Amino acid sequence: MRRGIGWLTAIGCLATIAGPARAEDAAVTEGRRIAHGACSPCHAVGPTGASPRAEAPPFRDLGHKYPVENLEEALAEGVVVGHPGMPEVKMNEREIAAFVAWLKTVQMP
Ligand code: HEC
Repeated sequence: MRRGIGWLTAIGCLATIAGPARAEDAAVTEGRRIAHGACSPCHAVGPTGASPRAEAPPFRDLGHKYPVENLEEALAEGVVVGHPGMPEVKMNEREIAAFVAWLKTVQMP
């Protein structure tokens, strides 16, 4: 009997953890789609490989310059747009959050 209750508690905990994780996964998936669709013509979006356009930093290295969370605000305000050679990036708040969620998953230490 004790054992049975232990298992139930364990399952309850797993369910609690799995809930938010699924929402996070959905954001990461959308972020990957955005990056591969809109950014990959110039930026390297994978764990290896050079950017198709040499001046464009590989996304996995962005975290070396600043915490990638900072990009959320910068992208929303269009700060990145100021770069020569970098086209205007139009993303809504949800897309930006998704993009940054994905970006975190590809950062190299
Ligand atoms: C047409 C080519 C091109 C595309 C498409 C492109 N970029 Fe860039 N991006 C560049 C170049 C070139 C730079 C480097 C500009 C510089 O450093 O002056 C850059 C720089 C950046 C930077 C770094 C800014 C910094 O502070 O160093 C970020 C972040 C960025 N791009 C995000 C994006 C995102 C997000 C997308 C897709 C939604 C995207 N880019 C699509 C060309 C591109």
